[in-house]
Amino acid sequence: MSLETCKLIDLPKISDPRGNLTFLEGTRHIPFEIKRVFYLYDVPGGAERGGHALINCHQFLIAMSGSFDVILYDGKENKRVHLNRSYHGLYIPPMIWREMDNFSSGSVCLALASESYSEQDYFREYGTFLKALGAS
Ligand code: TYD
Repeated sequence: MSLETCKLIDLPKISDPRGNLTFLEGTRHIPFEIKRVFYLYDVPGGAERGGHALINCHQFLIAMSGSFDVILYDGKENKRVHLNRSYHGLYIPPMIWREMDNFSSGSVCLALASESYSEQDYFREYGTFLKALGAS
C-alpha cells in the first residue's frame, strides 16, 4: 500500500449551540465495516504509541479530544499527519507502518478497526515489515 491510500476523511458535523454532534456509519463514511473500537487515553507527555503495521486490519483514527501526530511509512516514503479535530479522522489501510507521538495533555485517540484483535495480524519489527513488502 502506498501513502496515497491513507486519507484524511471529513465526517458530518451537526453544529448546534447546545454542543456539536458528529456521527459515522461504517462503509458510508469510512471504507470498512467496524468490528472493533479501542481508545488511547491518559497518554503521558512525550509518550509514543503505535510502532507497528497490520497485515489485514484497516483502521480509522480520530482525535476525540486534544491532538497528536501519526507518522505513516509505506516502506518508501513517510509523512506526518496532525490530528486535532473530532469531526475528521485518518484512514489507514493494511500494510502501512504507523507511529504516534506529540500527544497533547488530556488527548484521546479513538480507533475504529475492521478486524478483531489478533497478535498474528501485527508486524512489530520494522525490518520484518520491510522484508514482507519486498516479498509481495
Ligand atoms: P498495541 O496495539 O501494541 O498498542 P501500541 O502499538 O500503541 O503500543 O496494544 C497494546 C496492548 O494492548 C497489546 O498487549 C495488545 C493489547 N490490545 C488488545 O488486547 N486488544 C486491542 O484491540 C488492542 C488494540 C490492543
